[in-house]
Amino acid sequence: MPGVFQLPLGEIVDEARQAHDAGLQAVLLFGIPEKKDEHASGAYAENGVVQKALRAIKEKCPDVVAMTDVCLCEYMSHGHCGVTRIDGDHFHVLNDQTVDLLVKTALSHAQAGADMVAPSDMMDGRIGAIREALDMNGFAETGIMSYAAKFASVFYGPFREAAESPPQFGDRRSYQMDSANADEALREVGLDIDEGADIVMIKPALPYIDILWRVRERFRKPTAVYHVSGEYAMIKAAAEKGIVEERAAALEIMTSLKRAGADIIVTYWARELAKWISA
Ligand code: PBG
Ligand code: ZN
Repeated sequence: MPGVFQLPLGEIVDEARQAHDAGLQAVLLFGIPEKKDEHASGAYAENGVVQKALRAIKEKCPDVVAMTDVCLCEYMSHGHCGVTRIDGDHFHVLNDQTVDLLVKTALSHAQAGADMVAPSDMMDGRIGAIREALDMNGFAETGIMSYAAKFASVFYGPFREAAESPPQFGDRRSYQMDSANADEALREVGLDIDEGADIVMIKPALPYIDILWRVRERFRKPTAVYHVSGEYAMIKAAAEKGIVEERAAALEIMTSLKRAGADIIVTYWARELAKWISA
């Protein structure tokens, strides 16, 4: 993915410090374990890569707001976001077993110092379960940013390649949302808020800008939007071909997301934007 790199643990503190010094409010961590397995054990290991990164960041630059993506796909050998069962030609993602592992993962992130956890799996009931586990274990202050309206999208391709997590069979349509269904998006967001989400997120960004606007208007909750890998890579590719100018395109897109109601934008341009905006 152009301009995006997997970082070794030894570089994470510098990267976080530079982001902070550039004026960015927060970083969002994703992990790639040494080994993937059928239980995603790297996701909730006390010495997992994200847990180690959190402890390093919190020790060396405690002012950085550290958020973590909570999902199993990067840690599962099959690349799905949950525990799967195969029945002949079909496979199922087992919702409740998955939620148990997500809760363990979120709790291990909180214990390692995460300020906020961001579940991106789309299982039912996970926000409530994570909230309860955090509260019961002394982490009432740890926030939850929920990927509340996450659509099944072609625009996640470059991320999955970068995170080495494309599904080995089937697709994610049984747990991610149908792009034609706006009502379901609003319902999912409402449920996550009822279950205790502090911030709700819409993802991808531009193709779902109507959803962003409606969610912000209806719920009046802090609302985030994730400008995803494919959206970003398209502009990069177009810029390389001389079709658009990258900086102007990025600023126009970010402005449109703000205009549509985004309080928080997750973007691979963050570091460059901080420079462009302050220049
Ligand atoms: C993990 C996760 C994904 C993204 C963020 N968290 C991949 C997916 O759902 O396939 C995608 C981010 C991007 O494309 O930039 N579930
Ligand atoms: Zn996932």
